Amino acid sequence: MNNRQTFFVTSPIFYPNAQPHLGHAYTTLLCDVLARHHRLVGDEAYFLTGTDEHTEKVVQAAKAQGQKPEEYLEEIVARFKNLYQKLDISYDQFIRTSDQKIHLPGAIEMWNRLVTAGDLYKSSYIGLYCVGHEAFMTEKELVDGLCPDHGMAPEKVTEVNWFFRLSKYASQIEKFIADGTLPIIPESRKKEILSFIRSGVQDVSFSRPKEKMTWGIPVPNDPGQTMYIWVDALTNYITALGFGRGEELMRFWPGMHVIGKDILRFHTVFWPAMLLSANLPLPKMVFVHGTIISNGKKMSKTLGNVINPYELIKKYGTDATRYLLLRHVHSTEDTDVTWEKLDEWYTANLTNGLGNLIARVMQMATTYLQGPVEMTPETQSDTDVAAHLEKFEFNHAMDSIWERIGHDDALIAIEKPFAGVKSDEENVRDEALLIIKKLVRELHAIATDLEPFMPSTSAQIKEAVLAHKKPENLFPRI
Ligand code: MSP
Repeated sequence: MNNRQTFFVTSPIFYPNAQPHLGHAYTTLLCDVLARHHRLVGDEAYFLTGTDEHTEKVVQAAKAQGQKPEEYLEEIVARFKNLYQKLDISYDQFIRTSDQKIHLPGAIEMWNRLVTAGDLYKSSYIGLYCVGHEAFMTEKELVDGLCPDHGMAPEKVTEVNWFFRLSKYASQIEKFIADGTLPIIPESRKKEILSFIRSGVQDVSFSRPKEKMTWGIPVPNDPGQTMYIWVDALTNYITALGFGRGEELMRFWPGMHVIGKDILRFHTVFWPAMLLSANLPLPKMVFVHGTIISNGKKMSKTLGNVINPYELIKKYGTDATRYLLLRHVHSTEDTDVTWEKLDEWYTANLTNGLGNLIARVMQMATTYLQGPVEMTPETQSDTDVAAHLEKFEFNHAMDSIWERIGHDDALIAIEKPFAGVKSDEENVRDEALLIIKKLVRELHAIATDLEPFMPSTSAQIKEAVLAHKKPENLFPRI
């Protein structure tokens, strides 16, 4: 019998109309750490990521390059996959919403279930449509008549749409969020969404006329309408598991969603309402991570402060990039990232911190010990690391590891085993050798703790320890 727990983690599916940036890398990296952690503790983990392709922006971007959306997307999807490979992201599936085989049947099934529940109705809609958001906005959200995020006036549109009875589910969802049936982490985001729901939830437009949305999934039995982002994009989390086409992986549902604060409402109100309407279980949890800003501002092409993840990997290497994002970006708050700070963190904590400890310990071990040190149960991984990870405190989990590195550095500085081994007194020499052995075991324990965060560094440290050799310089000076 298989008693393993299942663990399903999803990243948002990203808009592929621009190159992947550091924010995309960050979200996906958090999912990767969770998936790796769960695999390491023996769970059956499944990690889903992908691209949200049915958007007019893709159609426009492709046109600007003289390409068909399909051609344009091949290239850009390959870039996302390449970035993930370079970042050592261990995803199990990369879903594309334009995939007719994988995604389409489930999106149609979801639509039909909402119809069966009596939750979709046709009505005319007068609204303010922001092309930047690809969404309708309310007057309240505008600043001086402009969308605050895109600085553009939204278009006034009147059109016939299918509407979803979101209002019908508002009080149920409020209750589920408030009583923890649908956990939202951190607490501040839970409060934010509860106050949003309490301020009144209206029904939402779930389709657009085909002329306005030229590329997308046609509404069943109403081909003049195209499904809007809600069914089209959010349903990816289950179509990937076989919903609507055999359900071969549906045992992984419900899963947990990792998202940025910009898509909080969609994941904690719209999506749960759709699931309730479709008679499916609610997500296990929604974790809302922090945002990376640069020089005090949101990264944007116009401001020229976008930090490209490829440049980071090129400059510091894969695991160092993972380290920089996981330790120095706050799990749930905004973090300002600049090249100066990245350099500082790299040098202080990787070159001088971890890298130096490994080099010093293995130098002493290979010089003064006859062979590999036997591992003993007392130098085990730090339980604080797992505890922080269970609470999604990625940066604090890393802090615990670096605290241990600091203690080991201090042990070397205070006990000076490198001097003790040369003493004339046998008991001083023996004591020094014991300290070196302890330090080697410490390295092994640190490597175990690092595994979900910095998988290849972890493997290299373990290999050096077990094979009793000095590893190559893992974090060269920059
Ligand atoms: N396609 C929608 C999501 C649909 S999910 C069913 C979308 N895509 S997106 O390409 O704009 O990506 C948004 C996500 O990227 C955010 O929720 C967040 O996870 C991540 N980030 C984008 N910018 C970010 C930062 N500056 N910092 C951290 N993460 C950020 O919205």
